[in-house]
Amino acid sequence: MDEALRLYQQQFVRDSRPPQVASDTDSPMRFGTPLTPDDTADVMAWHRARAFSHYAQDLGLGPEFVFQLTNALARDMHDGRLDGLANGEPITVSGPTGGVFHMEDADQALRFSQARAGTLHENVARLVDGAASPDLRRRLELMSLDLTDFDWLRMQRSQGISTTETHLAANDLPALPRLPELVDEDGNPTDRVARYTLRAMMDVDVTINAPGESWVTPMYRYNALQLPPVIRARRGDEMFVTLVNDLPAASTVHWHGFKLPGSEDGGPADPVAPGSSRLYHFTLDQPAASLWFHPHPHPGTAEQVYQGLAGVLLLTDQVEQQLRRDSRIPAEEHDIPLLIQDRLFDAESAGVRELVYSSEQMAGFGMMGNVVLVNGAELPRLAVETRQYVLRLYNASNSRTYDFALHDGQQFSLVGSDGGWLPSPVEVDNVVLSPGERSAIVIDFAAYRPGDQVMLISRPFMGGAAMGMSRFHASGGTEGMHGGMVGGHHGREPYLPGEGQDIMRFDVDRAVVDDVRLYAGLPEAAVIHDRLSEQDATADRLFVMSWGHGMDGFLINGKQYSPDRIDEQVTPGAIEIWEIVNVSPMPHPFHPHAIQWQVLDRSRESPAGAERGWKDTVLVRPGESVRLIGKFEPVNSGEYVYHCHILEHEDAGMMGIFRVGP
Ligand code: C2O
Ligand code: CU
Ligand code: CU
Repeated sequence: MDEALRLYQQQFVRDSRPPQVASDTDSPMRFGTPLTPDDTADVMAWHRARAFSHYAQDLGLGPEFVFQLTNALARDMHDGRLDGLANGEPITVSGPTGGVFHMEDADQALRFSQARAGTLHENVARLVDGAASPDLRRRLELMSLDLTDFDWLRMQRSQGISTTETHLAANDLPALPRLPELVDEDGNPTDRVARYTLRAMMDVDVTINAPGESWVTPMYRYNALQLPPVIRARRGDEMFVTLVNDLPAASTVHWHGFKLPGSEDGGPADPVAPGSSRLYHFTLDQPAASLWFHPHPHPGTAEQVYQGLAGVLLLTDQVEQQLRRDSRIPAEEHDIPLLIQDRLFDAESAGVRELVYSSEQMAGFGMMGNVVLVNGAELPRLAVETRQYVLRLYNASNSRTYDFALHDGQQFSLVGSDGGWLPSPVEVDNVVLSPGERSAIVIDFAAYRPGDQVMLISRPFMGGAAMGMSRFHASGGTEGMHGGMVGGHHGREPYLPGEGQDIMRFDVDRAVVDDVRLYAGLPEAAVIHDRLSEQDATADRLFVMSWGHGMDGFLINGKQYSPDRIDEQVTPGAIEIWEIVNVSPMPHPFHPHAIQWQVLDRSRESPAGAERGWKDTVLVRPGESVRLIGKFEPVNSGEYVYHCHILEHEDAGMMGIFRVGP
């Protein structure tokens, strides 16, 4: 429902100027009463950002202009009044081609869109349920709404239900693989020092297990392992990790979500040449969390991750250990990392399916696969007892966003975000994860009986374009995708952005008595209790994500990544507010290195769900603005990057550099 509402909002903003059909006798205005600006300042801000980016697009103005518009918008929003004035002065913006915008001029269009919003709100449900009468549909079409988007969503939902039924009955699903754990090479697993070697290798023959079949795919892997490894560490551990680069290209190990000095961060500024190696040395000092690591060479991050390089680091601490001892969270054997990655496999030849990679896949959406792997297997099954399990969902896909849910709509508890345990569990029936994000959830299988099967699915949702997704789904996307690069591909087509899938199945096989009473609140010692306060922030920064055209058009603050430019200078130890605004027509997960953040608000609304915890990656949808607050720690010094975690966007330059300290 939220998704449908969002779709609806995006659609009417596209037409935020009165359409031609509007006339005195048949004006869409008659369907509703304009909302009063007083109580809708937030809504207005949102629409205004959208409207302005589209005005600029319609006039053929470049992304720098959109950026200026958004900047002006931010100024306008500052006094809480969207009146086109800043300190009583009219705001105008002049574009590079000489066009001038007067910020006040959008007001008429704005009121118009609000009228549409107020009226149509309740009709969205009917559209998605297919319960809109022909007359209603006709009236909605008069308002220039593209109803095929809603139809697509409805069709997806019903198709999803029937494939899920097939998969629930299938008896040939592969078992869920356990990710291999690396062993501390210093021979002493209990001291506070740990040594590991990660040898990045190519052409490792990986066996992929899928329902009723398996095949071999040559991939990149660390240490020639079949699957991405897991490293377990405790808060306070001193880590010595050596990367040996056996790839024919430069690589790095980036520690995603870690609080580290810039020199150990493994970012694009520190490539490790082919054939050489380097040591990463750092001490882990942050709360227990589901962290991960992956290569980060520029511009080769997307391809190296896609080919198979990534790993999980499970950091534990005393708070978590105590919760386990007190049976307030499930034991370690019932706590399972799930690495979720989609891949596009070519047709089989002699038992081998090559990975297909093209960085320009999907007309700018990034690389999308035709198979979703969970710990390296397609649609695996896991036998479970009637107890609670922690599942640590890692979206380690290059570009795909998932909307995870159980097929029967059963609720589960959200217990962890990117940076650690949530202050208290949140009951939900879905969790959206964009690339780079993690969520820990607790599913209580006591709600089921032995013999029951439950499917973890990704629900169909509008894949993210601000408008006309159905047209993309119907033609443009797939055509662009298969027209050239993947022309010879005979297997299944890639899943479209937002297309639903079955992810894995839980087979309830044994009744047990669960002694875990899930924690209701973290102990006082947990650092998550510290809400950072806006008053303590010493800097406010704005990051505007925009898209002009083609793969060169992915920009932050109107700029493409340059290794020679420091974009932001941060004072050591500072508390800062970073506001991320997306004026592009597709969603982008924003990820700054170095620290963990708290979400202050999302388009002026207080954070919900996993965003009540620590985050290092946040999804910013078209038209949204997300404000983050974070504290740079004493360990933070040197250079880091922030970027979109759609890895194809990052490689295309949707990245910037910030420097902490001199
Ligand atoms: Cu997951 Cu810059 O990283
Ligand atoms: Cu990172
Ligand atoms: Cu992006």
